[in-house]
Amino acid sequence: MNILVLHGPNLHLLGKRQPEIYGHQTLNDINSALDQFVASSPHDVVLKILQSNHEGEIVSIIGDHIEWVDGILINPAAYTHTSIAIRDALSTVAVPVVEVHLSNIYSREEFRHHSYISGVAAGVVSGFGAYTYILGLEAMIHILGPKTNET
Ligand code: DQA
Repeated sequence: MNILVLHGPNLHLLGKRQPEIYGHQTLNDINSALDQFVASSPHDVVLKILQSNHEGEIVSIIGDHIEWVDGILINPAAYTHTSIAIRDALSTVAVPVVEVHLSNIYSREEFRHHSYISGVAAGVVSGFGAYTYILGLEAMIHILGPKTNET
């Protein structure tokens, strides 16, 4: 299964950016943890991890992977709350989407409570810091993986 991991604007500054909200782990730390999780997974998972600060670039990245991608794990960051274009790109590619946020967006400012992305996502994980990404990846593998009687 080919999973595209997309980090939105300002997430390249993790570690330095408001650590009281987003934690001390850098984006590299998070990406390494995702790679390690995949390496120890019994499933055949290929990750491609990208970060962009630009809405149009995120739209292009999503569209450019239409032939390759089986699922998209995305932290749209501030574009969560503003971007119909990213939502439309995700709808166009039409593979399962898992939306993730380091912080609990529902316990923060009111403008963060609405997500344009959630309506096209299979599910949302929010509020568990860097570990949110592992939970989101596990959920994605669960959605894409072989179905068993137990799950
Ligand atoms: C975020 C939450 C957003 O509201 C914010 O704009 C971000 C990061 C998170 O991961 O908690 O940039 O997506």
